[in-house]
Formats: sequence, C-alpha cells, structure tokens
Amino acid sequence: MLALLIIFGRVACRCGTATFLTPATILLFMSGTNLFRARVTENSIFLDERYLYPEFIPEVLPGRGKEIESLVYCFDPLLKGKKPVNVFLSGSTGVGKTVCVKFVLKELEDASDRAKSLYLNCFEFNSRAAILIALANFLGSAIPRRGLATDEIYTSVLESMKKCSFTPIVVLDEVDQLLVSDSGSKLLYDLLRVVEHGKQGIGIVLISNDVELTSRLDSRIRSSLAEQTVVFSPYTPEQLKKILSERSELAFVKGVVDKDAIGVAAAHAAKLGGDARIAIESLLKAGRIAEKENSGKLLVAHLKGAFESVDAASLAKGLGFLARDELLLLKIISENPAINSGAIYGLYSKEKGASLKERRLRDVLAALEKQNFISSEPVSMGNQGKTRQFRCGIPKELILKGL
Ligand SMILES: Nc1ncnc2c1ncn2[C@@H]1O[C@H](COP(=O)(O)OP(=O)(O)O)[C@@H](O)[C@H]1O
Ligand SMILES: [Mg+2]
Repeated sequence: MLALLIIFGRVACRCGTATFLTPATILLFMSGTNLFRARVTENSIFLDERYLYPEFIPEVLPGRGKEIESLVYCFDPLLKGKKPVNVFLSGSTGVGKTVCVKFVLKELEDASDRAKSLYLNCFEFNSRAAILIALANFLGSAIPRRGLATDEIYTSVLESMKKCSFTPIVVLDEVDQLLVSDSGSKLLYDLLRVVEHGKQGIGIVLISNDVELTSRLDSRIRSSLAEQTVVFSPYTPEQLKKILSERSELAFVKGVVDKDAIGVAAAHAAKLGGDARIAIESLLKAGRIAEKENSGKLLVAHLKGAFESVDAASLAKGLGFLARDELLLLKIISENPAINSGAIYGLYSKEKGASLKERRLRDVLAALEKQNFISSEPVSMGNQGKTRQFRCGIPKELILKGL
C-alpha cells in the first residue's frame, strides 16, 4: 500500500495534474511503459496530422482537373525544347492556386531536368532587390551579401541566364504585394527583358487573389508575362467534401471522423468563400480538441469549437493584408453599425490622409464584403428608394491594431 502511495505521489509530481491519474495510467506507470508514448497510442485519433498542414502537397487535388490541365499546357513546350507559356493565376484565398502550381511544378521537375522552379511569396520577397538576389542565388551567381547595387545584381542575373543549363521557372505568389511599390513594379520590367532576350527562356508564373490585377498592368507586361490566364473559382460544398475526405483519410485513424462532420466543415467553408484552407484547418483544430477531450471520435460539436478559432485567426491574418484606407473604412463601420455608404464617405473624408473618391469607395466596400470583413443589406427609405446598410463583425481592437 505504501509503495502504491509513493507511486501516486511520483505520477502527480511528473504530470503536475491530477487528470493523468486514471487507473490505466497507474498500471502503465507500474509496468514501466513510457507515459507519453502510451498516451499517444491511447488517445490519438490522428494517424499523422501533418497531412492537414498547409504546406503538405497532396497527390490528388479534387475539383482542379481543368486548372491543372491548363498549367500542364503552359509548361509542356519545355519538354520539347521550346519556351514555356507565361501564366497568371487568380482567384480568392484558399481556392488552391498555390498548391496546384507547386504540384504541377513538382511533376514537371520529376519528368525533366530541363526545368527548375523558384517559388517566391511576395509577402516575404517584397522588393525588386530581394527578388533579384533570390534569382541570382538560384541561378548560381555569387552575390556578396552587401555592396552590390540592385542594377548590378540584375546584370549578374542576365549574365547567369546566358550560362544557365536549365530553364528557370519563377513563381511570384501574391504578386500584388510587389506592385505596391514602384521598385517592385520595376521588377516586372526586369523580367520582361529576361523573357524577351533570354536564349533558352524563362517561365513566369504570377499568382494573385485579385482577378482584376492584370487589367492594371501595362499592356506589354500583360501580353508577355500573362500570356495565359487561369481563374480559380471558389470551391463548391461538394468539392470541399471531396477535398476533406481525401485529406482526412490520410490524417485520421479509420472510422474516427463522424460522417456528418465532413459535410458540416465543407458547408462552413463554402459559406466563407469556398476556401479549402478554412475547411482543412477547421478539421485539424477539431481533431486536436477531440483528442484533448479524449473523445476517441471527431464529432460535429468539436468542429463548432474549431470554427470560432479558425475564423478569428483568419480574419486577424486577413486584416494584416489590408491597405490603410480599407482599415479606416472598417473602423468607421464597426463604430457605426447599420451605416450607409453616403455616411461612411462623410466620416471617411474627415480622416487624415483619406484619398478615395466616393465612387472608388463603393468598389472598396464591395471588395471588403466579398472577403467577409463586412456585410450589408438593402433597406427601404420609403419613397426615397433604397439604401444599403453596412455592418462589421470584427472587434474594433483588432482593426485599430492594424492601423
Ligand atoms: N483541390 C484540393 N485538394 C486538396 N487540398 C487542397 C485543394 N485545394 C486547396 N487545398 C488545400 O487548401 C489550402 C489552401 O490552398 P492554397 O493553394 O494555399 O490556396 P490559395 O493559394 O488559392 O490561397 C492548402 O492547405 C491546400 O493544400
Ligand atoms: Mg496561395
């Protein structure tokens, strides 16, 4: 008995929590089995949760057959010794642009030594210099860390291109981030020269959430760097269900995911713009909640808990990508629920640095609504016609943090 009490004491000390003291745990401890390893097999509903991580590239991409085919068409000339077709991909967040490009380029590199890709996300590589340095390094030029002017780096890229034994394919993801600055925009002209004068060619893939982006580009850039356009539409609930089924088969122990849960997660993500990232992340979070509760099954109730944290996290992340004017509008709407666009404009134009004209402000409001930052509804004003009233469900503190 005394021995048993001593064991109890040691378990409590090691775990720092009484919840570990189940009879099964005590027995395991007494039998010398490692407590943590035992716990993994005892409660886990995951086979391997990494299959639900955003960086995982699945072998099967439901609902994207046509888009993948278009990309294959763009790179196919490479295998015949010709120049690839430069392509612009657009579509809202989470519709599979990045994963499809990465998947197709992986296949291409497996099939041929002629192509090598360089993937750059312009949130991280957001200046001409940063991209040219990455490109120079990729092409094997020795660029000193400091001391070279950007134009010199560009010259060295051109030199390396002449000697290059493969065709580089440069992916600029979230390319709109680059176009915010003049120097970033200049990079597209650098690439244009490489495309026009390069011997063996270079492949360019531009990706953006903004479908309209190419219409803002100079026509020379558009016709050279965006020869082909592929628009990714939001996933339907059915497509999201397929995506979730494929991913959860890899990630979870067979039979632990409640069959309704997949449908509920798919419907939730469909409502929020057909975003597969939200669907997959919700399933991952729900799985973790289920495991923490030691439930042995992933149920719809666990998903509901996950939705809140996924939605809040994605809104907060989304705010970081908004321009100051957009944040100002959100602030005004969150402070004045059910406000109409005329009144929003009135308040907005009093803010320091306000530069949007009233017409453009309406477009910005429509874009913010499309991204689920605000909602609006038509309201009748008697014989004066109709107006739209706007609301913003984002906590004001989050918005102010971004300003
Ligand atoms: N058809 C699909 N099948 C499986 N997973 C997908 C599919 N489309 C998107 N995903 C996953 O959803 C998430 C978001 O996709 P991503 O390519 O990053 O979207 P985007 O670049 O359009 O914002 C990633 O985790 C990705 O792996
Ligand atoms: Mg992406």
